[in-house]
Amino acid sequence: MKKNTHNPVLITKILENLQPKSLKKIVDATFGLGGYAMRIFQSGFTGKYLGIDADKHNLDIAKKNLIEFDKQLSFFNGNFSEISTIVQSNGFEDADAFIFDLGLCSTHVDNPERGFSFQSEGPLDMRFGNQELNAETIVNRCPPSELCNIFEIYGEEKLAKKITDEIIHIRKKTPITSTSQLAGIVTKVYESVGIFSKKRHPATKTFQALRMAVNDELGVIKKALMETIKIMKPLSKIYVVTYHSLEDRTVKEIFRQAKKGGNVKWINKHVIIPDFEEVKSNRRARSAKLRIVEKLKDM
Ligand SMILES: C[S@@+](CC[C@H](N)C(=O)[O-])C[C@H]1O[C@@H](n2cnc3c(N)ncnc32)[C@H](O)[C@@H]1O
Repeated sequence: MKKNTHNPVLITKILENLQPKSLKKIVDATFGLGGYAMRIFQSGFTGKYLGIDADKHNLDIAKKNLIEFDKQLSFFNGNFSEISTIVQSNGFEDADAFIFDLGLCSTHVDNPERGFSFQSEGPLDMRFGNQELNAETIVNRCPPSELCNIFEIYGEEKLAKKITDEIIHIRKKTPITSTSQLAGIVTKVYESVGIFSKKRHPATKTFQALRMAVNDELGVIKKALMETIKIMKPLSKIYVVTYHSLEDRTVKEIFRQAKKGGNVKWINKHVIIPDFEEVKSNRRARSAKLRIVEKLKDM
């Protein structure tokens, strides 16, 4: 794979269902580096494609990756939490498909300046977009109980209380400003209870939790899916790829409620996961899950 391109997860399964040749408009709410878009265009899609991403840097790279399809493409740099406004102002409310491929891209982890990686030194940032709140503010200003909740709920971190106590102890003396400083604090807490795992970095869950809090990831996906279900036309579909159980549970619950209300039906009775070959060739695919629903009637 070339640098600055994305190995698109579950794309074969998405294409099987999407049948791009038969569609007129597609909204890609997490355009990233345009990995999905590239495969969709290469499958013979001749319609219009709206690519949304909170991250301007990713969109700039994607525009270059997809220059040959620029006549079919429109871009919007913003948060998909505003999806109904974005879609309506770009003339895509009658799209046939809405795609969400959640989480982060390799560009986020590979650039230490973005603060997503516990493996390298960088500022405690973790923002997808340009909102004010970043990880440094949460770590240094959040009341202890809130901080502990973030680690417990978003990170499902069993040592949440101990990690919070250590952070509070340290931040009273000096602000915690870098990824390596925070990773070091969490590692020390793990070692203090005798956990020296080599398989997974001790700070994995803490960093995931902070990223989710900074970007309000569960809140925005809930809002975006509810809005999309409301505005989309009958027979159009939503495709969501999630990467951990909290995301998947949130998506499942929203779709379940919409089905109960008679607004959508499941396209896949069972969640779709990558096959062995895909997991072997793309590590990021190992936890991926795809859910698809179809709109039944106007709301
Ligand atoms: C997993 S990547 C998508 C990769 C893309 N499907 C591809 O094939 O290249 C997720 C992207 O969603 C963006 N993103 C995450 N949360 C977002 C949000 N709330 N609004 C808009 N973009 C978001 C991230 O910046 C990232 O570029």
